[in-house]
Amino acid sequence: MGNPLANDLETLRQAVERNARPGRFAQAFHLVPPVGWLNDPNGLCCFDGAYHAFFQYSPFNSEGGVKMWGHSVSDDLMGWEYLGTALYPDQPFDVSGVYSGCAYVEDGVMHVFYTGNVKREDADGYDYVNSGREANTVHVVSTDGMTFGNKHLVMTNGDYPQDDTNHVRDPKVWRSADGYRMVQGARREDDRGEVLVFGSSDLDSWELVNRVSTEYPFGYMWECPDYFELADARRTGAGATVKVLSVSPQGLEGQDWDRRNVYQSGYFVLQGDIVGACRLHPFALWDAGFDFYAPQTFESDDGRRILIGWMGMPDTDEYVNKTVEDGWQHCFTIPREVTAANGRVLQRPVRELDARHANERHGEDALSADGTRCFDLLVDEFPPSLDFAYVRIAEDLVLTWGSGTFEMRFLDEGKDSVGAGRTCRYEHLDGLRNMRVVGDVSSIEVFLNDGELTFSTRYYPESYGVRVDAPGASVTLWDVEA
Ligand code: FRU
Repeated sequence: MGNPLANDLETLRQAVERNARPGRFAQAFHLVPPVGWLNDPNGLCCFDGAYHAFFQYSPFNSEGGVKMWGHSVSDDLMGWEYLGTALYPDQPFDVSGVYSGCAYVEDGVMHVFYTGNVKREDADGYDYVNSGREANTVHVVSTDGMTFGNKHLVMTNGDYPQDDTNHVRDPKVWRSADGYRMVQGARREDDRGEVLVFGSSDLDSWELVNRVSTEYPFGYMWECPDYFELADARRTGAGATVKVLSVSPQGLEGQDWDRRNVYQSGYFVLQGDIVGACRLHPFALWDAGFDFYAPQTFESDDGRRILIGWMGMPDTDEYVNKTVEDGWQHCFTIPREVTAANGRVLQRPVRELDARHANERHGEDALSADGTRCFDLLVDEFPPSLDFAYVRIAEDLVLTWGSGTFEMRFLDEGKDSVGAGRTCRYEHLDGLRNMRVVGDVSSIEVFLNDGELTFSTRYYPESYGVRVDAPGASVTLWDVEA
């Protein structure tokens, strides 16, 4: 282990984890923290035959605190084994938190890049936006996927554009035909969000090669950027590659944004070249539910693009999480395979979920089952004329399709209810062809039209049950074995 500060943090972390009692809302196949607070997925990768997921972790307080990187591994993306903390805030350049970042694997070496966050109260008139904050880009290497070597500072605020504020963070690295690339999220001085693109030939010296943003104002900060390309299954030639720039924008207001979450996560299809001239198509939400933010993707060894989001929402007091009473808060989404077809980006639960199916039940038009805490529900083959479908979960959470609108609604809007203060989210859709709902003790994830749009939420039922009413549709329900 590292220095005396890291050693003491390690001892304290182990002590709080020993006393952890996650309680009745701990999920069976979603990644949860052993204790305390979890936010963004970090460093997602395949390494040495296993899936590695790191997470923003504050073990000492379920309402958040200084961030470190928790670490879990999995063989099948469905069962996660917690290994401990991989990176502590133990250096002058990351002392206020080991913030979000990525893992890039090459030749059996895991290269981690993250933001070393420093809040300085000594700066004159600091506001942590234009002064009083450092955003350090740090590179650290592991050869066993468990332990990390010395941290190297590769960029500081002086290396970012001078008209950016102190808010530059969340590096994501990949290799292109022309060398290594990195994107970081940034807030400009004029309160516009943007993505900075850097290039490198050795992973240590980085140079700014582009700045990408919308032609119109679109929020003041873009967090957790990611960039990847998908092969469109239905197209050849020019439209065959879909370039996806994923960001989590803060500060969207007016129009439809006011009825949605305080912050958003979504993607722009990018036309052109991310290191040259490019244009961003309209923003599309990854998820329109209550609990989804800061997703990250990685490519699995078998070539799938897999996305995992944080199933939570920062800076929200309208609704709460009942797990706080049990000393922990938040989880990851189920890992989702991201594909493209006909220019549309689709998300569906990883196929490993199917291997956990048990106790299949089937109904035409309707189905009802009590007591299932972990389930996978498929409502398929909607007749094109169908303008009504209704799924009721744990009596209180209602999913309805009608008049071109899909809605997720908690009937009881009180903080002491199943939704713990969550109310209603909805989006307009051209039509509904199918709906898949994955439930895991205290989370619900809804995938519409083969994953064109999703809705994720936490929920806290006293008793469990699923009722479906979808005239003309075919309904299948499986238990999911943990
Ligand atoms: C997104 C975020 C990141 C940051 C991290 C800190 O939720 O704010 O931008 O690196 O969380 O925990």
